[in-house]
Amino acid sequence: MKGHFISFEGPDGAGKTSVLKALVDKFQPRLGQRLLVTREPGGDPLSEQLRKLLFDDRNRGMDDRTEALLFAAARRQHVVSVLEPALAAGKVVFSDRYVDSSVAYQGGGRQLGEQAVWDINAFATQGVMPELTIYLDVPSEVGIQRILQKRQNQVNRLDREALSFHHRVRKAYLRLLAQDPSRIQKIDATQPFDKVIADAGDVLRQFDPAIFG
Ligand code: TYD
Repeated sequence: MKGHFISFEGPDGAGKTSVLKALVDKFQPRLGQRLLVTREPGGDPLSEQLRKLLFDDRNRGMDDRTEALLFAAARRQHVVSVLEPALAAGKVVFSDRYVDSSVAYQGGGRQLGEQAVWDINAFATQGVMPELTIYLDVPSEVGIQRILQKRQNQVNRLDREALSFHHRVRKAYLRLLAQDPSRIQKIDATQPFDKVIADAGDVLRQFDPAIFG
């Protein structure tokens, strides 16, 4: 059995976490233990500790390159301890974010340069890339509005960035999409939730009808 690596991406407020949960509910009965759901940064104890550091409000003064390197370090650990063993065991891995997030947030949002961020992540991932990326697209204003409405008490350090930051993140995502249209499949996340789930289901079915048909 061949493993499959599928990542889920999107700007803040795209509804990625709820969409992922609905897709897991849909496919878990069929896939059982073969489905592994993980997230970045996180997914293993060391990466989860790095996640805490990255999102702690006390670390507001973190240097942008430090931030990019910590995301890449967390990713490296996640690749080695979670992704590679799961793929070798033939699992279907759903990852809530992966390297595109760093290119979009640190490369675009923080303006570190998309190529520079690719470079440190090439070192971190050694070429482990998703076969399919489901990108939930939402205009920045809509995304930010959703965050502010839904989770007043859960807004993290990155959510608090200015609207211009979020615009740069989305633009970088759209550039990634243009560069790699066969891997990255865009879904309009402003549609009603059920339609977003149906579209994501269609993308997965097209990717592998034997697994998701
Ligand atoms: P996430 O856990 O997906 O939370 P949410 O449910 O709010 O989408 O992501 C948390 C934040 O981490 C999000 O603002 C994007 C940011 N992030 C980066 O800036 N770079 C990265 O490489 C990753 C993986 C995430």
